[in-house]
Amino acid sequence: AEADAGTGGATVGPTARRRSKLAVVGAGSVGATMAYAALMRGAARHVALYDINAAKVEAEALDIGHGIQFMPMAQIEGSDDIAVCADADVVVVTAGAKQKPGQSRLDLAEATVGLVRSILPGLVEVAPDAVYVMVTNPVDIVTYAALKTSGLPPHQLFGSGTVLDSSRLRYLLAQHTGVAAQNIHAYIAGEHGDTEIPLWSSAMIGSVPLLDWPGMPGADGGVEGRLGAADRERIAHEVVNSAYRIIAGKGATNYAVGLAGSRIIEAVMNDERRVLPVSSLLTDYRGISDVCLSVPSVVGRHGVEGTLPVRLSGDELDGLQRSAEALREVAARFGL
Ligand code: 2OP
Repeated sequence: AEADAGTGGATVGPTARRRSKLAVVGAGSVGATMAYAALMRGAARHVALYDINAAKVEAEALDIGHGIQFMPMAQIEGSDDIAVCADADVVVVTAGAKQKPGQSRLDLAEATVGLVRSILPGLVEVAPDAVYVMVTNPVDIVTYAALKTSGLPPHQLFGSGTVLDSSRLRYLLAQHTGVAAQNIHAYIAGEHGDTEIPLWSSAMIGSVPLLDWPGMPGADGGVEGRLGAADRERIAHEVVNSAYRIIAGKGATNYAVGLAGSRIIEAVMNDERRVLPVSSLLTDYRGISDVCLSVPSVVGRHGVEGTLPVRLSGDELDGLQRSAEALREVAARFGL
């Protein structure tokens, strides 16, 4: 028999495993896609979708539920009653306004901070032990506001941060170098937004430091995929502008953020202690305190288990500090 995570309940058969429950708040394109991705990846056995729009949330749950036959063992329910989130192991908050073409994530703070402040207490009441993952933008500000409102310990509530941006970075580096994205260890840190920065000085391609990457000998004897300063600059620029480009073309981003969210959920559900650049409250991280932003962190069943002591170049530290200042300025506008 498969090892049980140990929460009691002696049942036989498929239900003998510990039932992992994920609650997704907000059944918009991000929430629904994240629920779908989490079910497809087997991240949770039970997914609860919660939204104030009853018709929408029931329809999304039904549409996803009709595909359960083709997924790992799971169930999904949708409701406009917050009780649907009761006793979740992980609560993901995606509810809020979305960027219109031309708007930055920070432009959404006005619309979303109040919303998140009003939802959080009710969620914490029905799911007090859950690990909370904030996704709503501007995610760093929303995470900070949610921490203050909920009173939860900082490890238990964090934001999806730059996990998505880092995966965009790896995608572009993989295309450029011809090495699989899974073997590229490179992170975007700071704000999930315009001031974010790539941590080039600690990035690795396989076991080769990215800054030393000489390219690879190709089949024709030439060297392919050299990565110079201009290439790095272009790639960093493309990462920052990815969301704008997608929003201009299709109105929202949903697939990659759904997968990135699922990856975070899995790290918590399975206590994987994965390194993920999530947005958490920093306390003297290279001198940076009292702001939520992303640095490579270890994510496990308690949420953020720790932050990685990454070596930063002077420019990278400056960039991180600029991100912190930009975020503090917005937080101050909301009396945070
Ligand atoms: C994204 O980066 C808009 O934050 C969203 O796709």
